Amino acid sequence: MRNLLQPLVLLLWIFSATALAGPRQAAIASAHPLATQAGFEILDQGGNAFDAAVAVSAVLAVVEPFGSGLGGGGFWLLKRVSDGKEILLDGRETAPWAASSTMYLDEQGNPIPQLSLDGAKAAAIPGLPAALAHLAKRYGRLSLAQTLAPAIHHAESGFETGERYRLAAKSREKALQASPAAAEIFLDHGQTPGPGFHLLQKDLAQTLRRLARQGHAGFYRGPFASNLVAQVRKAGGIWTQRDLERYRVLEREPLRGEYQGIRIVSAPPPSSGGVVLAEALNILSAYDLEHDDPVTAKHLIIEAERRAYRDRDLYLGDPAFVEMPIRRLTSPDYAAGLRVAIRPDRALPSENLSDVGNPSSQGDHTTHFSIIDRQGNQVAATLSINQRFGSGFVAAGSGVLLNDEMDDFAVSPGKPNAYGLVGGDANRIEPGKRMLSSMSPTFLETEDRIAILGTPGGSRIISMVLLAILDFAQNHDPQSWVSTGRFHHQYLPDVVEYEPGGLSPEEIKGLEKLGHKLKETSYRYGDMQAVLWEKQGDTVGAASDPRGEGAASVR
Ligand code: GLY
Repeated sequence: MRNLLQPLVLLLWIFSATALAGPRQAAIASAHPLATQAGFEILDQGGNAFDAAVAVSAVLAVVEPFGSGLGGGGFWLLKRVSDGKEILLDGRETAPWAASSTMYLDEQGNPIPQLSLDGAKAAAIPGLPAALAHLAKRYGRLSLAQTLAPAIHHAESGFETGERYRLAAKSREKALQASPAAAEIFLDHGQTPGPGFHLLQKDLAQTLRRLARQGHAGFYRGPFASNLVAQVRKAGGIWTQRDLERYRVLEREPLRGEYQGIRIVSAPPPSSGGVVLAEALNILSAYDLEHDDPVTAKHLIIEAERRAYRDRDLYLGDPAFVEMPIRRLTSPDYAAGLRVAIRPDRALPSENLSDVGNPSSQGDHTTHFSIIDRQGNQVAATLSINQRFGSGFVAAGSGVLLNDEMDDFAVSPGKPNAYGLVGGDANRIEPGKRMLSSMSPTFLETEDRIAILGTPGGSRIISMVLLAILDFAQNHDPQSWVSTGRFHHQYLPDVVEYEPGGLSPEEIKGLEKLGHKLKETSYRYGDMQAVLWEKQGDTVGAASDPRGEGAASVR
């Protein structure tokens, strides 16, 4: 008996050691080379993927101030290899306690233009500083002083901005001009800076130092918090000190799904990402997209998106405020029911599914990064201040650009927001509530392959991640997922948007023949950052979207 047990114990030991062993190399893909570099510096100092995530998040806040920042929020999807724990860290912003469903409406009940987008009243209570403190304390090995050091350095010493900065600043010039502290930092003598602008953020460096020293309290309590509140109120906002004191990061169970043997782990509400992905993939699971002709395959993807985005609008919101039929929406039976009404030879107008508004879609903002360390710990994080440069408002002395995430609520239910999304009652503004998001940090897992991915891009985030998952399912590599041509349907407006080159001329003709209305965007959109670990052969790959200026590296 003893003779039999010994080899068994040895086998079990080898099995568990192999199961726990991480990849030979670490990988980081982020939207900016300085952020990717900071992540590796932290890994080299003995930090794990979670420490690197703190560093990358903070550096992105400095070097991509138009995409994310301490004045915003985000979702960090984590997998800790030591105990297999998968968790979604919810650092989403919350509505201030004085917020109400009519706060952006005029006396006739119509939205007041730009009020939920520009200036202090558009800002929700930030979650990013709390999330970084939580991430460091609960999951990291290093101190915040170590992990925030690269961001402090770049804020203090400055760096040269690129073309993306110039374009983003140009698009938000008016909002930045309206806030003297923002104009002072982000503009050049009140105008959009030209190429090679040296961006110095001394106040932000101080704010980061305070966060490094005091953690959560360094942002949400004391004189710093009082100054933020006083200046927000002076500029027409409604924050109170109590709003900041009340802010909490939440840990949530991720949303899990399955597609062709691929385990999908993504963001649950208050992000709509995981639910919409699961619903669309369930619908698509009965088709053979790889062998269908390209027009049929794309038509089916569009029809699946139409239905999944419709349910987003109808049902989803903050789980603390609304009951959502998540189990039904993500069940294969529900998808089978929806599939019955999909005709392979014709588009079904969205108005046949429900009421139609007249929204318009735009937007490209936010940021994403993906990390795997040599232990196998994983992070996919999508962070945002909503529109480029958020609300454009900076409280003097803080260096912190505040978000305009309040516009992600259904500001006026039934009417479109900045992304053309027509929210329902589930996402109406309520005090303390988290606004519905599309951010979709995602892990994909098969027996042999682990992928970590996500992208910015407003409501198009989910369709971009969907296309990447379908590409992964066809065994393509990260370079292919981040480069693949993009098209998007979000139920309303009833239009298939596609980026230049996203559909071939034959596909455009074929889809129009099926009854789809098509619209080319004026620019290629998204900035996907992806990592892949192939366990067999132990190879690690990483890719940064060719549309952006990010950097992906394996070391
Ligand atoms: N602010 C964009 C999103 O959360 O979807």
